[in-house]
Amino acid sequence: MNMLEQIKQIKNPEDLTALHSSVFGKNGTMTVRLKDMKNLDNDSRAALNAESAELRDAFKHAQEELEHAAMMNALESQKLDAAAITGYGLRVTDNGRLHPLSQCMSEVSTVLTEMGYSLRTGPEIEDDWHNFTALNTPPHHPARDMQDTFFVSGGNVMRTQTSAVQIRSMEKDGVPIKIFSAGTTYRREMDATHSPMFHQIEGLVVDRRITLSDMVGDIKTFLERFFERELNMRIRPSYFPFTEPSVEIDVEWKPGKWLEIMGAGMVHPNVLCNVKINPNEFQGFAFGFGLDRLAMLKYGLSDIREFFGGDARWLKANGFETLGDKK
Ligand code: DAH
Repeated sequence: MNMLEQIKQIKNPEDLTALHSSVFGKNGTMTVRLKDMKNLDNDSRAALNAESAELRDAFKHAQEELEHAAMMNALESQKLDAAAITGYGLRVTDNGRLHPLSQCMSEVSTVLTEMGYSLRTGPEIEDDWHNFTALNTPPHHPARDMQDTFFVSGGNVMRTQTSAVQIRSMEKDGVPIKIFSAGTTYRREMDATHSPMFHQIEGLVVDRRITLSDMVGDIKTFLERFFERELNMRIRPSYFPFTEPSVEIDVEWKPGKWLEIMGAGMVHPNVLCNVKINPNEFQGFAFGFGLDRLAMLKYGLSDIREFFGGDARWLKANGFETLGDKK
């Protein structure tokens, strides 16, 4: 096989380089012959030059062929890379998710709706009547001190409690009534378990012959469905102006560890009178709790302010997968 054919046969760059240096390298066959050129006659010189040029061309051509093949190969394999990149992209792209509080809100709503409560809403800037006075907390009532209030112009307040929606709903719909409200509430306080903006859920049932045991039953059902486990519940006497008797509900979170979880009570007759309902005919119960606190318990979080930090890394660190994390 002559050299030209040998060059054509070569399949990889290493072999081509080796062959090239055996021909044109320091002691390569052609190099040696070219060095001797001075001893040749003119025709032989011309022939040798032509042969040498032909070989150089052949090597160059072969190299280009190999480079082209290598590029085609690379393109082929980059098809695989492209697929891998897409897969990778699916894994790391943050598609977003519900904020843990929105998720918690929707879980609460689902449970209460299944229990026959229907959702009512009210304004976040509330008038004095709905936030306080109608809830048996007239001006100068000492219970107003229980809620450090943001006042806005016109005698209105940032609602301190979703209990205001009780009043609005009874005024609008009358009784019997079985509703819950869920929304943002505001108070001037801030520490690891208090944020000036937080969220409350409020439940209200008014009908003929509603008793305290109806209240206990519904609250226990709600808590057990929400936390998806059986819970021991403790009921302590408490005080709220809009309920009589008033209680606070604790749950046994871990054996021997009790946590206060909500306030509740039988709707105070004054409240019913304020919305023109006859307390001798109708009775009811109400309960209210902080959604943020419930979410902290359910998801095992320690600082309420993190909820409002808007830091996606915090979501991940606390085990809230974004959709993008799901395979
Ligand atoms: N509104 C109360 C609070 O913010 C919570 C509450 C207690 C609501 C007892 C109720 C209730 O409806 O009956 O502290």
